[in-house]
Amino acid sequence: MIGDEKAVHPAWLAPEAFRPLGSRRVLVHGDGPLVDTVLTEVTLACARFGGRVRRSAYPPPPEGDPEPTGAVDVVLALRWAGPLPEPAARAVAALHERGGGIGDEGFLLTRVDEVTVLLAGGPAGLLYGLFHLVRLGAAAYSPDLATQRHRPGLRRRMLNHWDNVSCHPVMGQVERGYAGGSIFWRHGAARRDLARVRAYARLLAAAGINAISVNNVNVGPVEARLLTDHLGDVAEIADTLRPYGIRLHLSVSFAAPVTLGGLATADPLDEKVRAWWATTTRQVYERIPDFGGYVVKADSEGQPGPFTYGRSHADGANLLAEALAPLGGVVHWRAFVYNHHQDWRDRSTDRARAAYDHFAPLDGDFRTNVILQVKYGPIDFQAREPVSPVITAMPATRLAVEFQVTQEYTGQQRHVCYLGPHWSEILRFHPWGPDGGTVAEIAAGTATPGPTGYTDPSRSGLGHGGGMVAVANVGDDQFWCGHPLAQANLYAYGRLAWDPGLEPRTVLDEWIDLTFPPGSTADPDLVRETLHEIMGDSWHTYERYTAPLGVGFMVDPDGHYGPNVDGYEYSRWGTYHHADRDGVGVDRTRATGTGYTGQYPYPWSEVYESVERCPDELLLFFHHVPYAHVLHNGSTVIQHIYDTHFAGFEQVETMRRRWRRLRGTIDAPVFTRVAERLDEQLRSAREWRDQINTYFYRKSGVPDERGRRIY
Ligand code: GCU
Repeated sequence: MIGDEKAVHPAWLAPEAFRPLGSRRVLVHGDGPLVDTVLTEVTLACARFGGRVRRSAYPPPPEGDPEPTGAVDVVLALRWAGPLPEPAARAVAALHERGGGIGDEGFLLTRVDEVTVLLAGGPAGLLYGLFHLVRLGAAAYSPDLATQRHRPGLRRRMLNHWDNVSCHPVMGQVERGYAGGSIFWRHGAARRDLARVRAYARLLAAAGINAISVNNVNVGPVEARLLTDHLGDVAEIADTLRPYGIRLHLSVSFAAPVTLGGLATADPLDEKVRAWWATTTRQVYERIPDFGGYVVKADSEGQPGPFTYGRSHADGANLLAEALAPLGGVVHWRAFVYNHHQDWRDRSTDRARAAYDHFAPLDGDFRTNVILQVKYGPIDFQAREPVSPVITAMPATRLAVEFQVTQEYTGQQRHVCYLGPHWSEILRFHPWGPDGGTVAEIAAGTATPGPTGYTDPSRSGLGHGGGMVAVANVGDDQFWCGHPLAQANLYAYGRLAWDPGLEPRTVLDEWIDLTFPPGSTADPDLVRETLHEIMGDSWHTYERYTAPLGVGFMVDPDGHYGPNVDGYEYSRWGTYHHADRDGVGVDRTRATGTGYTGQYPYPWSEVYESVERCPDELLLFFHHVPYAHVLHNGSTVIQHIYDTHFAGFEQVETMRRRWRRLRGTIDAPVFTRVAERLDEQLRSAREWRDQINTYFYRKSGVPDERGRRIY
């Protein structure tokens, strides 16, 4: 229980979740700052739950004189930190065959002589192993514990904060933030108290995240100065993140040589510009030796970029990469480049095509420390989009897939929308058909070239891929995310970045156990069942009552919350639905439309091109069809719109009813906050249902075959 009504919620590190570890005798073996963190965590847990912790002597005693360990229940050992204490040494001998290949972030877990032994390949592995033990709870000490081997599937597991230093007049302190202010910045300056940042770093490490950028990709004049004048503030944040294995990155402005350096140009091929970036970057590393690198949004939605100088995005990215390379940093260069001054009358320009058209021709031109950061879909973080074709188009480029944990287009943390299933579907998608690699493998750099994958074998020279990146969803809200259940999205993002093959349902179970540990609720089974019922399918529920069949948007342009079917239809943003009295959807075929389907490799280039074969859920993304068009599910498009909108609303009613069963079984503040949000979700879902149904009824004139109320 939280006790204090106003206390910051512990999220998935509820103290109670540490009981099984904290009530045992623990030996920690190893040295270094991250091992210190592990020791601190274990010490706190033991102080709370009556266990004992000891650190084995370091430097290790001379060979042949192993330190007597005394009785222990758990050993957490850094594998290479000198001779191992028993029984860890015996565990290594027993595991000899399986000991290799865990990398510096991985770990092995086994039972030897009634002791649970965790062996880590490096200090970060020890930290991740510790949180894995917490996740396993009592099961980690069961005689039946089978030996486990863990290492991350993706090396880079990053979050981007869209936090502003100064409060932006329209976007506020956090752009697309739905959880209060920034935990880093407030009213134009760094927050002095970093306790919240420390708690955040701990949560992120427990979910497996290892990198964050701390300022908005839209870099304003105040934010630009973080790179120079305000580097001290950034360094303090980096110091706070470091004990939890998290590297700090900064979003920078491509125009910085002009705006900060006083140069006449930011032309990437200008010698003075190169020298400025080299010097500035060196100064960053003097303050932050493990600095991760730069994140850049260039020539996108008004941000400066290389186009100003007639240069390519490869020229732009390589400029920064060159400055970072000798210091071990990377550039995350975003592929979110499109014309945001489109004329809605012009049907030949298709925003979905833009990233591919800009970037695919540049494949092979980027330095290897450039990571091209590609949004999962071609438009903009919609609840349903096809996977971006850029993801398959650049075999000689290191590529990261970008997700959005902050629920900009998925209910803004006022609606329950568990996104684990959505992300998992994207990560498991086979862009070359069932025999080829997956999106996750591309992000990991392990997708194989060949007839069903990349055709260019040079990709194999790239080493690991660019990993995953996502826009963060926390703020200074008591529950971190505004909606307590939105915490599950942040947790799930980290876990899927660690292991993209995890089942979203399993991840949800983990999150439930850690957030509502069985010992802390009055009815653990009811809590688990209810959370699964409410959250498990909530992404589909959200999809049902919002924009239909992959057409996207239909949100209010002012805040992207709530329905406004024609809100973007005559605007410059390139996000249209083209509904008329006869039909709806955007024709993106090669035969009669914008030709976007041609950006996909076979077989999807054919599947999406064909109105018969296109999956129902993406039909209106790819095709303009009559309302009477019959879907694979047997329904007409218009009837499907009505049915899903009625059903989606009813599902929210059910969610709300189910939540009320939990009154008295969980913390009152959590109960109340979620209950309030569900009231709002119901109100909003009703609005969506009625506006969408009414809009299409009025356009089409086709009545609901079940005669339900449409206005
Ligand atoms: C969306 C979002 C913007 C953001 C942009 C981006 O369009 O609405 O606020 O800046 O994505 O990804 O850069």
